[in-house]
Amino acid sequence: MNNENRMRYADLKDEILLTREQIAARIKEMGKEITKDYEGKDMVAICILKGAAVFFVDLIREIDQHMSLDFMAISSYGSATKSSGVVRILKDLDKPINGKDVLVIEDIVDSGMTLSFLKENLMSRGARSLKICTLLDKPERRRVPLHVDYFGFIIPDEFVVGYGLDYAEKYRNLPDIGVLRPEIYE
Ligand code: IMP
Ligand code: MG
Repeated sequence: MNNENRMRYADLKDEILLTREQIAARIKEMGKEITKDYEGKDMVAICILKGAAVFFVDLIREIDQHMSLDFMAISSYGSATKSSGVVRILKDLDKPINGKDVLVIEDIVDSGMTLSFLKENLMSRGARSLKICTLLDKPERRRVPLHVDYFGFIIPDEFVVGYGLDYAEKYRNLPDIGVLRPEIYE
């Protein structure tokens, strides 16, 4: 770890879990797959703020299809490291999505509660199709069944930060993903 990175990396366990190079390579592959699947569709890519923001801007540039973009901010009640599944919409979509082929882009699926709420909410608005794309998936932690259509990496049950993911709003601006040292949140 060089000195320039001292501040942002100091609270991580030693090893980077996913480097920026690994993330970029995987996003290229995901972009190719999504490009193929959305041929001829009326695509809207929805970014779930704030966590997915960094992933979103990288992924959409790897998808070679026309699309519109929209943003939704949600907060799920619970402790800082666990979601309760009770989701509040802080900022809703700007445009209706009826008849659209919606791709929801999220940072991480953990219990699955946030996305199962969102999926139901968005489907009720008359989307023609709705798929879920997440950079990270922690399947061990699932509490409700949720089908994930595209995922970047399966990760173990540890609390990770960086590349958009936060703990108490910090670390989102790390270019890589690392495991937060448990003493930071215990
Ligand atoms: P779920 O409803 O339990 O699936 O929670 C998903 C949300 O919890 C994500 O959008 C994140 O905001 C947050 N989250 C879950 N695990 C982590 C993690 O390891 N690091 C950072 N945020 C996480
Ligand atoms: Mg989030």
